[in-house]
Amino acid sequence: MRVLVTGSAGFIGGAVADRLEAQGDEVVRVDLLIAQAHAPGTTAERTHLVDVRDAAALRPLLDGVDVVCHQAAMVGAGVTVADLPAYASHNDLGTAVLLAAMHAAGVLRLVLAGSMVVYGEGRYDCPEHGAVRPGPRANADLDAGRFEPRCPRCGRDLVPGLVTEDAPFDPRSTYAATKAAQEYLVGAWARQTGGTAWSLRYHNVYGPRMPRDTPYAGVASIFRSALERGEAPRVLEDGCQRRDFVHVTDVAAANVVALVTDPPVDGLTAVNVCSGEPHTIGDLAYALAAATRGPEPVIVGGARPGDVRHVVADPARARSLLGFRAEVGFAAGVQAFATDPLRAPARTGRRHRTVSDRGPSTGPSRPEDRGVNVVPEIILPCLDEADALPVVMAALPGGWPVLVVDNGSTDGTAAVARALGARVVTEPRRGYGAAVHAGLESARAELVAVLDGDGSLDPAVLPGMVTAVAAGDTDLALGRRVPQGRRAWPWHARVGNALIAALLRHRGVPVHDVAPVRVARRVALLELGVADRAFGYPLELLLRAGAAGWRISEVPVPYRARAGGRSKVSGSLRGTFRATRDMAGLLR
Ligand SMILES: NC(=O)c1ccc[n+]([C@@H]2O[C@H](COP(=O)([O-])OP(=O)(O)OC[C@H]3O[C@@H](n4cnc5c(N)ncnc54)[C@H](O)[C@@H]3O)[C@@H](O)[C@H]2O)c1
Repeated sequence: MRVLVTGSAGFIGGAVADRLEAQGDEVVRVDLLIAQAHAPGTTAERTHLVDVRDAAALRPLLDGVDVVCHQAAMVGAGVTVADLPAYASHNDLGTAVLLAAMHAAGVLRLVLAGSMVVYGEGRYDCPEHGAVRPGPRANADLDAGRFEPRCPRCGRDLVPGLVTEDAPFDPRSTYAATKAAQEYLVGAWARQTGGTAWSLRYHNVYGPRMPRDTPYAGVASIFRSALERGEAPRVLEDGCQRRDFVHVTDVAAANVVALVTDPPVDGLTAVNVCSGEPHTIGDLAYALAAATRGPEPVIVGGARPGDVRHVVADPARARSLLGFRAEVGFAAGVQAFATDPLRAPARTGRRHRTVSDRGPSTGPSRPEDRGVNVVPEIILPCLDEADALPVVMAALPGGWPVLVVDNGSTDGTAAVARALGARVVTEPRRGYGAAVHAGLESARAELVAVLDGDGSLDPAVLPGMVTAVAAGDTDLALGRRVPQGRRAWPWHARVGNALIAALLRHRGVPVHDVAPVRVARRVALLELGVADRAFGYPLELLLRAGAAGWRISEVPVPYRARAGGRSKVSGSLRGTFRATRDMAGLLR
């Protein structure tokens, strides 16, 4: 059998292509190695570097092909609105071009990598109203720790069940919408051409060659990457959300069977590809921590924007139509996954650029004035800032959500923050980097402004910085401290900072301050993969942003004596020494 596998350099496409070749089939491997999925410089052996949106390039490759296995897609949650065109283009335009090229080449069989994301929430039953479809969960419920969706008719608790293939589509993200559209396009192609297709709706796939810690990676990989850094996996919600984790070798096996099996009806036949052994996200975190002998998971509350609570599938249809039954159990699969090789992370900071390098914004200060309708989230890392917070929060631009990351305060910082209307998350691991990282993970907005919670910096600069990033003028807007009076910035801290900034400029990062205030896209910041969790965090961030080719701009920000309490960094010689030592370690 000659099979064209799209996305063959990917996690699942690679496993399918290898399995086909191992059993003696002829495989035509096609992949574009897109930047959102692969690190720069990645190569793929025996692969045609072809875009599935390129009909002319596909034409000769489809010669003599019996069946196409379409795995190529831009995957993940669809992290910013700016990603919409790229998702629609790779996933839907790509599928449409491929289908038309298959028709032109007379190829009538297709296996599509479908996804359980088309369902949205899983199946739920209300004791009174039977099967119901809860809508997205309210932020107020999530903030209050009420994670279970409620009956849309009576508000009662629901009983989660198994989702079957005839469940209506309810895609909740850009990515999910494009996966649903893929199925519609394939259905239309099959009706018009007499072709047949399977959509294998994979659940949460894990295993070797899974991408590393990026927002596009699955939760198993995110936990595994945290453990590799010696950090506890951070489990959102209460850890009791349920999923079906299915091993990539089982997913590859399901593809291989589907490629040679006639669907029972014309058109598209969808089947869940799952293990049939549901587990909670907490189970996964604990099992991985145990397998790696790493730190115990931390349940941190909060929820990913738009995330669903339980999606657990019914494996019956795949069993009866394809004879598919997952072989790899959860315990053995997770144990192996603890040491499986992972794929290098993609570096995607550049993909957010929207206009050419024009330097920092010189226009009006409010984002709305530039036609940029962006509300950023302000992240305030705080350790014992109960005295300063009222002053800080009063000075922030009105209407912007504030996320306080309480980094182990004992002075009631969290209660003060809540009373002032901030959302609060707790980061038990001490350290500036740990607090900022926790804030980035828990924040919900596309753009974030990170600011010290001690009132030393004037937040009036924030709207201009946000405008510059939102309009695409810069990738990282930084504040450059201008001390207001001699008490504002002790000499030792100023000297230490100037030294580090000079070393940074020497490395080609054009800054004059290791900025305590910065604005950037939240996901892009996470994608930088900053590992330092202490005072070295801001410096590592600058080094990584510079290496990723980010455009960096600085604006002066008035810097005065803190509003209350004592600085953890620059208030003492010891603090300056610790910070400079952490930073210098990174420049070595
Ligand atoms: N990983 C999961 O848990 C999961 C779950 C459900 C569905 N899926 C689906 O499975 C398929 C494979 O996902 P994966 O996890 O292996 O992702 P992946 O990112 O590892 O692989 C996708 C591959 O597609 C390639 N690609 C993207 N756009 C392309 C284009 N225009 N032309 C050619 N190649 C292109 C990428 O370079 C990448 O190598 C996708 O269709 C995805 O939607 C994955």
